[in-house]
Amino acid sequence: MIVAGVMSGTSADGIDVALLRILGRGFNLRLQLLAHEHFNYPKAVREAVLQAMNSMQASVADLSRLNFLLGELYAGAIQNTCQRGGIEKLDLIGCHGQTIYHQGDPSAHLGKNIACTWQTGEGAIIAERLRVPVVSDFRPADMAAGGKGAPLVPFLDYVLFRDRRVGRIVQNLGGIANLTAIPANAKPEDVIAFDTGPGNMVIDQLTQLLYKRPYDRNGNIAATGHILEPVLEETLRNPFFRRRPPKTAGREEFGREFVKQFLKRCGKAAKPDIIATATALTGISIAGVLKNLVRTKGAYRDYIVSGGGVFNQSLMSMLETTASAIGLTLRHTDDFGIPSQAKEAVAFAVLAYQTWHRQPSNIPTATGANRAAVLGKISYV
Ligand SMILES: Nc1ncnc2c1ncn2[C@@H]1O[C@H](COP(=O)(O)OP(=O)(O)O)[C@@H](O)[C@H]1O
Ligand SMILES: [Mg+2]
Repeated sequence: MIVAGVMSGTSADGIDVALLRILGRGFNLRLQLLAHEHFNYPKAVREAVLQAMNSMQASVADLSRLNFLLGELYAGAIQNTCQRGGIEKLDLIGCHGQTIYHQGDPSAHLGKNIACTWQTGEGAIIAERLRVPVVSDFRPADMAAGGKGAPLVPFLDYVLFRDRRVGRIVQNLGGIANLTAIPANAKPEDVIAFDTGPGNMVIDQLTQLLYKRPYDRNGNIAATGHILEPVLEETLRNPFFRRRPPKTAGREEFGREFVKQFLKRCGKAAKPDIIATATALTGISIAGVLKNLVRTKGAYRDYIVSGGGVFNQSLMSMLETTASAIGLTLRHTDDFGIPSQAKEAVAFAVLAYQTWHRQPSNIPTATGANRAAVLGKISYV
């Protein structure tokens, strides 16, 4: 089957599309990446997406419009990728959509205990424009089964990176950073996966506020700054970092409010020092998790990174230092045939393929679900 996967992460930077040939079933499926592209959201769209995510009072009309607008943009992005990749016919599309709200843990709401999530980007529009069935809305089925609805990429990580002799930790550095730890010869239930905390999200917001740039290109600003140790220490006391997995994070945890507090703590510090400290927050929070994993589980050899954060040299050099200090070899998913920008898009092609065959694709130990569930909703044509 030729399947397109489409991802828009919490960075709200844009749309990643991957086209794959997929064969086989379940954990033994085989993948061949045919093409992948990244499309930045137009500036006004990015602002609308961030507004929807951050606002306490987005209008229902605006949210509804955004849903259909993103459907159109996704359809265009897929079409464009097919043209550039010389692919004439798709059999299936898996579209994650853009998360505008995610609350993985239930809390009391109007007399019921509710956990909830909302990904937007209308599947019916994509299906109609391209005349290809679309699987979308992957997260709710996992949550209905008692899971946190995230992370869902561990299914792909297990397919691609499990190894009989080698234990591997697979890390994605998107807006949020998350990892999947796969011990040597692991069964699916041995997989550990959770969000470690911010990836680029805090760095991006501060770079926008202080420099009016979307992100710290190559980590150049952080490289000229000094880490504000007291700020870092205090920020690392945030309860999220102490919580035991499974746990998930998003803009609800590390969005505007968090950044406001962080800036307050920085006081009158120089701008590069603030960016350096935000970068260290990502680096040190991940280092803590890695040290713990290696200490308590042992036997990991590879540390395999992906996501836009791999371009941040300041962050990568921190991670490299940590990895080598604890006996891990830092590698990129590119070494395994998956370009770092494309990995999450690849994951949603694979999840759609599973759903199309009525097969589950959550890893219950990663999400906390009671069972393996078939994820997503299908828009037929
Ligand atoms: N050249 C670069 N230098 C530093 N950071 C970069 C670079 N390119 C991309 N990034 C970071 O990667 C982010 C996008 O990464 P991505 O994996 O798409 O995250 P998400 O899944 O949250 O959308 C950008 O917001 C930015 O922080
Ligand atoms: Mg992105």
